[in-house]
Amino acid sequence: MNRDILIEYLRDLPANRRVITALDVPGPKQALDLAERLGTGGGFVKVGLELFSAAGPEVVRQLRKMDRNVFLDLKYHDIPNTVASAARRAAALGASLCTMHASAGRNAIAAAAEALATAELPPGAVRPALLAVTVLTSLSEEEISEVRPSSDNLQQSVQRLARLAWDCGCDGLVCSAADLPRLREAVGPAPLVITPGIRMAGTATDDQHRVTTPRMAVNAGADFLVVGRPITQADDPAAALAAIAKDME
Ligand code: C5P
Repeated sequence: MNRDILIEYLRDLPANRRVITALDVPGPKQALDLAERLGTGGGFVKVGLELFSAAGPEVVRQLRKMDRNVFLDLKYHDIPNTVASAARRAAALGASLCTMHASAGRNAIAAAAEALATAELPPGAVRPALLAVTVLTSLSEEEISEVRPSSDNLQQSVQRLARLAWDCGCDGLVCSAADLPRLREAVGPAPLVITPGIRMAGTATDDQHRVTTPRMAVNAGADFLVVGRPITQADDPAAALAAIAKDME
């Protein structure tokens, strides 16, 4: 599926399917239980480094069997051949979204995009969208200057990497709602954007420093929201997810 059509298809999903619940749990049993508790209206689920390191691709297959769309957030950063091969495996698993670091460079981004465009997919599956991470939001200006001395400030780095990733064929970007206006300034309205750090107004912010309500994130240009604790630690995760989706509309 070409990039424009895939982005349009994902962007047009109803709000409840554009909430990605982060399965930040230590093992497959907790992940599958949580996915079950989200109910049939649940949207995408995120398998990140913790769960994937514990449970491997099998948990992705199980989630697919439960009809869950999977955001495989492994943030690839390696040589082009390795990133492309990993992306091909994500496609074969039936992931709907996968991530890489834009700083892996233009050849790695282009190789991953090409691999996804030509990958073999499970029956009935749509190819995964490739999302690029620009600068990890956990990094301060000082930390960045230690690993990557440059005359760019942080925002300039984010904008430069976003443009590079988009020009090299990624389908979208991951960024905080606070950075979204500047990111859209750099790449325009076309790329898909996934935004974490979401909280309903007046609720606990946990360890997130900059939080945004679902509505504010969508108004700033987010397409998908990644939500962890507000859903996973709720007494009724399905109701918490539904409330977030309602706020997006
Ligand atoms: O529990 P909470 O809603 O804060 O979890 C947010 C999810 O989004 C976690 O899986 C976290 O790893 C992820 N994330 C984030 N901030 C980023 C990138 C990813 O919180 N900048």
